[in-house]
Amino acid sequence: MLHISQNVSLKQYNTFGIEVFAKHFIEINSRDELTELFSIPEWKTIKTLVLGGGSNMLFINNFDGLVIKINMKGITTTINGNAVLVEAGAGEVWNDLVNYCVEHGYFGIENLSLIPGSVGASPIQNIGAYGVEIKDTFHTCLAYELETGLFKTFTKEDCKFGYRESVFKNELKGNYIIVSVVFKLFLQPNFNLKYGAIEEELAKRGILNPTLKDISQVVSYIRVSKLPDPTTIGNAGSFFKNPIIEATLFEKLKLAFPGIVSYPAGTGDVKLAAGWLIEQCGFKGMVVGNTGTWKNQALVLVNHGGATGEEVFSFSSQIIDTVFAKFGVTLQREVNIIV
Ligand code: FAD
Ligand code: EPU
Repeated sequence: MLHISQNVSLKQYNTFGIEVFAKHFIEINSRDELTELFSIPEWKTIKTLVLGGGSNMLFINNFDGLVIKINMKGITTTINGNAVLVEAGAGEVWNDLVNYCVEHGYFGIENLSLIPGSVGASPIQNIGAYGVEIKDTFHTCLAYELETGLFKTFTKEDCKFGYRESVFKNELKGNYIIVSVVFKLFLQPNFNLKYGAIEEELAKRGILNPTLKDISQVVSYIRVSKLPDPTTIGNAGSFFKNPIIEATLFEKLKLAFPGIVSYPAGTGDVKLAAGWLIEQCGFKGMVVGNTGTWKNQALVLVNHGGATGEEVFSFSSQIIDTVFAKFGVTLQREVNIIV
């Protein structure tokens, strides 16, 4: 029996801790419940918002529609030669899946330890950290199409993954609900240690031959040292993407700002560290009313308590304008803005 609640506070359902209300709210625990929900004409036509862990959202207003919190659980595995296919329900907590894989000796997502949120949201922005993105191990996902009520399997090619991008954020935005994801992981080590901070921390700990658990622990340690814990201070991780610019513009910037932090981004383009750009504008650790940037990471906007979505959004606009005025580079928001 489906249970739909009315006028539900979303404060505990978004890691920014913004107090807004959903007109209607339902938790969905199975594919059958999803099909049942949309067999009811009233819910077929209403504005919907799919919610995982709410760790990449900024609510600006009350949500005047139906919020669907995805809770489908379950992890199953199939060994296939040197690889293992791991299928997880969309409502599994991402880091629980990482821990499960680390414990079972499945290699490939350990660099993505401690990223908040759900498995179902992981393909939406192709989550990434420490030199790894889910596109590297993504196999397929199963998604429910709202318009037809049919379940469709998406391959890696179908998903059109890019840096913090996928088809689900672009041409198919709002059309599908992901119900499960399959990852192809390895039974032997294939560590990605190219991110300097991991090697440095392993060296500090005197670890020469790291295990899967070592990598997961080191990544978690680095993350905790830089990023605010959403259970104590509201945030949604990086608020902006790291901008990718053409090499010609980069050369000009490098002359004017020799300390600029950058990485090659393929095909001659250059990715800039947005945190550095924001810090250079004097924003790092700044407190503006109830919002501000994190003291250890200027790319993270925070809720010091009682902030409204509008307040955070308006501060983010100030950052975009100031960075553009100083560097001629336009920052794009990475967090989903829910109006
Ligand atoms: P939500 O915030 O609930 O939703 C995000 C988007 O996905 C929304 O558009 C929503 O409608 C949609 N969505 C959610 N579930 C589904 C579904 N089942 N089907 C269809 N659409 C769905 N991200 C990184 O990539 N790398 C990081 O290192 C990283 N670090 C972070 C650190 C902190 C402290 C925080 C708070 C966030 C961080 N993030 C990072 C962002 C966040 O963890 C990811 O974007 C994560 O995938 C969001 O998952 P979620 O379940 O909370 O999604
Ligand atoms: N930097 C500064 N000042 C700052 C922050 C960063 O100068 O206040 C410079 C430093 O030189 C630092 C560099 O920027 O070395 C990169 O910083 P960091 O390693 O913290 O990574 P990031 O580029 O800021 C990205 C992701 C994170 C991910 C980390 C680790 C984006 C938008 N963000 O941050 O993802 O965890 O790399 O791989 O790509 C998220 O998406 O929410 C997120 C946290």
